[in-house]
Amino acid sequence: MRRFSADYLESTRSGMWADSREALSDLELGECQRMLDVGCGTGELTRVLREESNGDVVGLDADADLLASVPGPTVRGDATRLPFADDSVDLVVCQALLINLPDPVAAVREFARVASDRVAAVEPNNGAVTVQSTVDSEPRLARRARSLFLDGVGTDVELGADAADVFAAADLDVVSTRRYDQELTVEPPYGEGAVRAARRKATGEGLATDRETILAGDTTPEEYDALREQWREMGRAVVTQIGTEEYERRETVPFFVTVGRV
Ligand SMILES: C[S@@+](CC[C@H](N)C(=O)[O-])C[C@H]1O[C@@H](n2cnc3c(N)ncnc32)[C@H](O)[C@@H]1O
Repeated sequence: MRRFSADYLESTRSGMWADSREALSDLELGECQRMLDVGCGTGELTRVLREESNGDVVGLDADADLLASVPGPTVRGDATRLPFADDSVDLVVCQALLINLPDPVAAVREFARVASDRVAAVEPNNGAVTVQSTVDSEPRLARRARSLFLDGVGTDVELGADAADVFAAADLDVVSTRRYDQELTVEPPYGEGAVRAARRKATGEGLATDRETILAGDTTPEEYDALREQWREMGRAVVTQIGTEEYERRETVPFFVTVGRV
């Protein structure tokens, strides 16, 4: 199982669902009494479910360290063997979980067993992420690093737009799929997270974390080292622009909210 740090999840989810929650409307949260957020991580979606409903929301994750930062009831467990009885909640939902599972259909089938009414998944297409930046080389290098990383990942990290097929294979009636573009922007005044991210680029630390995954694809160690060198150079330009308050970056991550009826 791929592990995530609380810091990574909190920074990548920052601001998600803050402005518009229209894409979540088919979850009919106002009508739910009991909800389960599977693969909740640090609870970024769990909090939204609580704000939008008057019911009880349980967060479930395989990683006990992440659950420690989720307020309210949580359960440690496996998405494919949920420790809940048949039909015991109204809605089972997940965000950015299916893309990390070797058998997403098995998980969605398990969600359908536990849900009495609806199952929903909020999943990205990580292959379609775009980056704009005031550092010219950043969009190209981000695209290349992402492509090499995706080659080495063993799961379907692009399934967001096709989650309806996963739902159909798990015998759910698909109600809708709505697209929601998450925008991550960096601009002055810079927060601590932006400065830390710039430093991680300049030292190559961020890319180093992904080395093993990248090398699991077709990339050779020499190609990885060459990319890391260019990445660090780009990072140094980011740090310089941050110093003069010129740096701006916008990343768009297309998410797809798929809702199915049991
Ligand atoms: C990308 S994170 C998403 C976290 C959270 N849903 C969010 O959107 O911020 C994926 C989460 O799924 C959890 N996870 C991965 N495989 C799992 C499994 N088989 N059962 C339960 N949780 C799992 C990970 O521990 C991690 O917290």
